Amino acid sequence: MLGNFTYCNPTKLYFGKEALNGLREELKKYGKNVLLVYGGGSIKKNGIYDRVVGILKEAGKEIFEDAGVMPNPTVEKLAEGVQRARAAKADLILAVGGGSVCDYAKAVSVSVNCDEDPWEKYYIRFEEPACPVLPVGCVLTMVGTGSEMNGGSVITNHAQKLKIGHVFGPEVFPKFSILDPEFTFTLPRYQMVAGFYDIMSHILEQYFSGEDDNTSDYLSEGLLRSLIHSTRIAAKDPQNYEARSNIMWTATWALNTLIAMGKTTDWEVHMIGQAVGAHTDATHGMTLAAVSMAYYRLILPFGLPKFKRYALNVWGVDPAGKTDEEIAKEGLSAMESWMKEIGLVMNLSELGVTEDMLDGIVKSTLIMEGGYKVLTPDEVRTVLKESL
Ligand code: NZQ
Ligand code: ZN
Repeated sequence: MLGNFTYCNPTKLYFGKEALNGLREELKKYGKNVLLVYGGGSIKKNGIYDRVVGILKEAGKEIFEDAGVMPNPTVEKLAEGVQRARAAKADLILAVGGGSVCDYAKAVSVSVNCDEDPWEKYYIRFEEPACPVLPVGCVLTMVGTGSEMNGGSVITNHAQKLKIGHVFGPEVFPKFSILDPEFTFTLPRYQMVAGFYDIMSHILEQYFSGEDDNTSDYLSEGLLRSLIHSTRIAAKDPQNYEARSNIMWTATWALNTLIAMGKTTDWEVHMIGQAVGAHTDATHGMTLAAVSMAYYRLILPFGLPKFKRYALNVWGVDPAGKTDEEIAKEGLSAMESWMKEIGLVMNLSELGVTEDMLDGIVKSTLIMEGGYKVLTPDEVRTVLKESL
């Protein structure tokens, strides 16, 4: 049965080759002080920085910079950003970058007017903001996380060996996001395909849960088929606008809350992947790719009807003369072939994980309850061991 829900997604999107023009319109809504947040410098090399700064100046804004947001942003960097936002008396935080930059901007936005320690408040106790939240706008340069249209914000605490995401409510969603597929053309192949798998995983985390007849699952199958089709093209021809634009749009819908409405969700692959990230600082999408096959093969018997449906509706497996289990397994094999075809990392060793790290990674893994099997710590270890 479709569960009850309230649906609200307040993020305004500007999509396509002229999308950056939307920034001019949006800037009229906010005060003079803009905190411009970005990463390690890719936007300076590809010219996006100059274009954004040009528009900010044209709009008469005072620009305060907060650069150097690293992939998997840390709690220490967050503390620095909060100080910068306070010193700037920022009216708007403009995040120009990938999921890390967007997530970080949201973390700053909920912390700037709050006296408590943000790590403890939001990432350990999962509280909601009890203070005014600064508006965030986003110019996206890397596709995958869906951070451009959701309230997700993932922060890493290396000292505690934890990487944790808080999913904030609509007041923390970006007020607007600029999505120009061409802004992603300079991504290194490794980051590009890691993002492709992040999208895949987001959809699967929401699809592989529950047994009811749910519209969201039909939406997910459509998104998955589009994603598989377009990523095959983009892996061969990264500058293919049609494929890259479809992938960008799929990424947004994969994690903007729509396909989770009225149904349960899993997220265990993300919990294991994030624990791997906390121990290795590896690229998010690759941590998911490395553990997925072992996880799905382990839970397949507990969710057989959905795995069969996945094989038939997403991978086009021919069911003739096969048992349900054979069909379901063939679906996962087709998925594995696609993962190899687009160039994903298929094992944890390649991400720097060694056997002596497994116990620590198990301890850092949160156990979710929405999947087809609630894992025991031993089973988490089994998934990790098989993924080495
Ligand atoms: O820092 P710069 O120099 O910009 O380089 C970045 C970075 O090294 C580079 N890059 C981005 N756009 C580029 C580019 N290089 C060349 N050309 C461009 N156009 O790519 C590298 C990775 O960027 P990053 O932002 O870290 O990647 P991604 O978008 O995958 O974000 C990953 C973070 O998002 C979190 C992850 O855990 C991770 O911390 N997630 C956020 C979610 C959410 N908000 O809902 C959900 C996800 O499941 C995920 O957990
Ligand atoms: Zn993800």
